[in-house]
Amino acid sequence: MESFELNKVLGAVLGLCLCLQVIHLSAGAIFAPKVPAKPGFEIAVKQAETAAQPATKAPEEPIENLLAAANVDHGKELSRVCMACHTLQKGEPNKIGPNLYGVVGRPRASEPGYDYSAAMKAKGGTWTFDELNKFLAGPRNYIPGTKMTFAGFDNEHQRADVIAYLRTLSDNPVPLPTATAAPASSKPGEPSSPQKKGS
Ligand code: HEC
Repeated sequence: MESFELNKVLGAVLGLCLCLQVIHLSAGAIFAPKVPAKPGFEIAVKQAETAAQPATKAPEEPIENLLAAANVDHGKELSRVCMACHTLQKGEPNKIGPNLYGVVGRPRASEPGYDYSAAMKAKGGTWTFDELNKFLAGPRNYIPGTKMTFAGFDNEHQRADVIAYLRTLSDNPVPLPTATAAPASSKPGEPSSPQKKGS
């Protein structure tokens, strides 16, 4: 083959290569793959029917209202995570955490034979529904220095379900508070709005 012919062939091949390269580059620019911010798949967690509400943390719904809609059976299921560290039934021994039978309405850090953290003892007060709600939202935020390493429930309905279940673990369950339309900040002395009865 003459070198002139060979040059033509080589030129054609080179031209084709160049052409393919240009297509490849421009295709890459046009159809740039989207890199996800977080690697992996996002798994949509199924929430209770109440999921229609925005998942924001504040403003918090008063615990009275949340308890009015709480599901004790669901709370019992959720309480299995507590059982990694707590016993829940009457007369059971303390584990990593204190026994929680009758905890609703119980003075804080009062379970006999349990060695509470200094922070828990110093906080004082009683485990009211409201206190439990605040604690279970983020134990170490609410009582810095607590030994309870559980992260808490972000979902207020999950907290209410668990608290509603904890309430049943008692010889004399504390009466459920009446749901109010008033914001959480209303003073405890004020009368709660009367229940509407058919007139
Ligand atoms: C990883 C272990 C762990 C898990 C899980 C856990 N707790 Fe605790 N909990 C503790 C420890 C430890 C303490 C004692 C805290 C202290 O003394 O500071 C405690 C204390 C408490 C107290 C205070 C009791 C009292 O007598 O004053 C309550 C209420 C409580 N936990 C509720 C719960 C609930 C409800 C769950 C499940 C939603 C849960 N905990 C999950 C370890 C745990």
